[in-house]
Amino acid sequence: MNILRNGITIASSGKGGVGKTSFMALVLKSFLFNGVDNILVVDADPDANMPEVLNAKVKGTVAMAVHEMRDKIDSDSLPKDFSKDAFLETEIFGLLNEGEQFDLLVMGAVEKQGCFCMPNTMLANIVDTLSKNYRLVLMDLPAGLEHVTRRTSRDVDLMYVLTDSSKMGLETAARIKRFTEKIEGKIEKIVFVGNRLTDEVGEVVRTKAEEVGATYGGAVPSDDMVAKYNMDGRSLLELPEDSKAFQAVRAILQEETLLS
Ligand SMILES: Nc1ncnc2c1ncn2[C@@H]1O[C@H](COP(=O)(O)OP(=O)(O)OP(=O)(O)O)[C@@H](O)[C@H]1O
Ligand SMILES: [Mg+2]
Repeated sequence: MNILRNGITIASSGKGGVGKTSFMALVLKSFLFNGVDNILVVDADPDANMPEVLNAKVKGTVAMAVHEMRDKIDSDSLPKDFSKDAFLETEIFGLLNEGEQFDLLVMGAVEKQGCFCMPNTMLANIVDTLSKNYRLVLMDLPAGLEHVTRRTSRDVDLMYVLTDSSKMGLETAARIKRFTEKIEGKIEKIVFVGNRLTDEVGEVVRTKAEEVGATYGGAVPSDDMVAKYNMDGRSLLELPEDSKAFQAVRAILQEETLLS
């Protein structure tokens, strides 16, 4: 996979609590380590954790922009020369958290009242537009299937499906793979990754991957430092280079020839 092609998108999914956010943070760390800049991180989980895991300050969320737009529509105070799309786009560009090494967009939680189909399509378009400015977009998706099947952002080139060795984790991973087969052309490649597993236990993930026709990407070992950094609110980007989890994630990306 050639990451120099503009705008490759990598996402993570899987059962709740399997380590999607931590994994994505280490994916980010890996690319930064290799000198890839111009990265957009999208936290698409309504219960956004990425800011904590990266210890990043957040100006606002996309959900807040949507709410503000709704209030303006309700009170008839949306600027007359602004279309809804243009208004949202301006707001979202304004709340993008621009860091030195990467930008962070936090979706946040949108209240589910009335019809959200419209903002959802609008959001997809806006995230699409925004994504075009980056070489790499990393998306942390919420647990489960809903986001995988609903188009809330642009097409995904590579989706890492994280799982532990539990039957529940493996079954969710298998379901995600099956679901993605139904949505044509949306997700190019699915790679299963075992988290908090030794290579030996990782074999159950390989077996499941083979069973459902997914690629097996490898296993990330349990790493006390990851848990400790998360507990202390320290950014996973500061993990030492010899962290076993970080090294494993690098190897997983190398497997896809995403990193040299
Ligand atoms: N390789 C690892 N070694 C040790 N601890 C880990 C590892 N990966 C994740 N954890 C710990 O597991 C917990 C859950 O991780 P994380 O928040 O990344 O999962 P998640 O899948 O994003 O959860 P959610 O579904 O709630 O979004 C965290 O406390 C994290 O510190
Ligand atoms: Mg998470």
